[in-house]
Amino acid sequence: MDKIAKIREARTGLAAEKWIAEDDKSLPFWVADMDFKSPAFIEEALTERAAANYYGYTEINPAVKQGIADWFKLRHDLEVNPADVFVANGVKRSYAAIVGRFMEPESAAILMTPLYPPLTKIIKDLGHDVFESQLTCANDRYEIDFANLEEQLKTHGEISTLILCNPHNPVGRAWTVDELTKVAQLAKKYNLLVIADEIGRASCRERV
Ligand SMILES: Cc1ncc(COP(=O)(O)O)c(C=O)c1O
Repeated sequence: MDKIAKIREARTGLAAEKWIAEDDKSLPFWVADMDFKSPAFIEEALTERAAANYYGYTEINPAVKQGIADWFKLRHDLEVNPADVFVANGVKRSYAAIVGRFMEPESAAILMTPLYPPLTKIIKDLGHDVFESQLTCANDRYEIDFANLEEQLKTHGEISTLILCNPHNPVGRAWTVDELTKVAQLAKKYNLLVIADEIGRASCRERV
């Protein structure tokens, strides 16, 4: 049995969306489920927790917030106060909550395409117009079309929000400091709220 068939068989009965949504011939590259074996310490911690046989409501363990703050310090030299960490169930849900809370009813968003589809769909589903600024591609490298972005901001005064995805799914770019600075300058100039999805941040390496 080849490797793929083995994984597919091992996932059978686990309701693994990545694997059941595909036919037998296609390789399911559409979502970032890694299929690597989890480290033993994670398996052990989960087994220990399950052995406690308590499935009632729980509070957020303060160690989680401290762990997140420590990670930001370690990876980004950024001071985060654990008390400011808000733990939520997944990026898409948090994103929907932020859009619902912070975008005025008649306002619109601008985002750069191609883009992970739920980021567009959620905003539209919540009743907002969405403007798209297409990324350009030359020599296999995608770039933000700043001229187009600014043109649209000038034309569509109803745009209140800019969606940033960094690293950008699906084009495989982590935006540079220069690019992010330009985005920030535009946001300031046009008084935009920036909502950033940085779910893939931990997989970035220097100079990639
Ligand atoms: C850019 C981006 N945002 C969000 C998600 C999914 O987030 P969640 O499952 O936590 O809602 C993905 C998953 O592939 C993604 O690529």
